[in-house]
Amino acid sequence: MKAIIQSALNQAKLTDIQMPTFSPISLEIETKYAPLLRYDLLKLNGTITTTSPQIMGYGGTGAVTRVGSLRSNSLLHQKVLVLNPWGTFQEKIISNIPPLVIPIPDNVALKEATALVGGADLALTLFKIIKQKDKQVLIYGANSVTGLVLMQLLTRHTDINFIPHVRAISKTYLNERMDEYNIEIAPNIRTNSRLIIDLAGPAINEKLFKHFAHGDEIITVVQKNTPGMQFISRPALPKDYQFLMNEIQEKRLFIPINRTFSYQDFQSAIIFQQNNPSRGRNLISFID
Ligand SMILES: NC(=O)c1ccc[n+]([C@@H]2O[C@H](COP(=O)([O-])OP(=O)(O)OC[C@H]3O[C@@H](n4cnc5c(N)ncnc54)[C@H](OP(=O)(O)O)[C@@H]3O)[C@@H](O)[C@H]2O)c1
Repeated sequence: MKAIIQSALNQAKLTDIQMPTFSPISLEIETKYAPLLRYDLLKLNGTITTTSPQIMGYGGTGAVTRVGSLRSNSLLHQKVLVLNPWGTFQEKIISNIPPLVIPIPDNVALKEATALVGGADLALTLFKIIKQKDKQVLIYGANSVTGLVLMQLLTRHTDINFIPHVRAISKTYLNERMDEYNIEIAPNIRTNSRLIIDLAGPAINEKLFKHFAHGDEIITVVQKNTPGMQFISRPALPKDYQFLMNEIQEKRLFIPINRTFSYQDFQSAIIFQQNNPSRGRNLISFID
């Protein structure tokens, strides 16, 4: 079967690989879509250390095509979201870890479910942290997939005041999405104390250091080991994805999706993502 592998630094290629062994605890999933994440590109360019060769991707969606004898037969033909630390940019995924396969309800589109990985899940983690603090929130990189989901969760489920920040080229896009998704900013500012959320990274450090000097608390999901900032990275649980899918079903949550590229055209996807601002999640399609 075909897979997209990171073969070396800055090198990815489409290649034939052997199907992994199928055991009684396995599920075989025919891949439909996988999200292309900033994380995948950071591994490719060496910013995040990784080993090569390896199959790219961490999340994906598809249909279950084979069920091991120790797994529930009701999963056969089910649409699922799958997390696979051994890669998802491949035509078929063999999953051996039951909690990492999450059924997708009928009225959630495969593309929407795919785009929950690596953005909406992170937004939910941040939402849980923010809810526990009585602070005004400033969100840098608010037009990111994570930022747009976080602001929807804050709008629908809290009255916390937040202020979105984006760079000039992303202002129109931010305003359009905020209108479309009915993102509203609650007027009440409860305390003078502020919480800064960094979704953009080192390019905005000058601003972040000014906040630090003012005594603001800073949470980053991008920069590890940076003085004055708390780095957050936590795995989402199946119930988190179920919550997000329920929000989609109830039309309380909208997921920004940009372009979908065929797996044969994955090099164009990488170049497109490297050279364009965030306008929603880009997806790799494995549907022929
Ligand atoms: N800690 C974790 O566990 C974890 C998990 C998943 C993701 N992440 C990180 O979380 C962040 C959000 O993820 P995402 O997928 O939602 O991101 P995304 O949609 O790709 O958006 C990236 C954001 O960063 C901004 N940005 C990038 N380069 C910038 C620059 N030079 N100056 C100013 N702003 C810049 C973008 O602004 P423009 O659109 O204007 O370029 C955009 O707002 C990413 O940095 C990602 O790597 C962390």
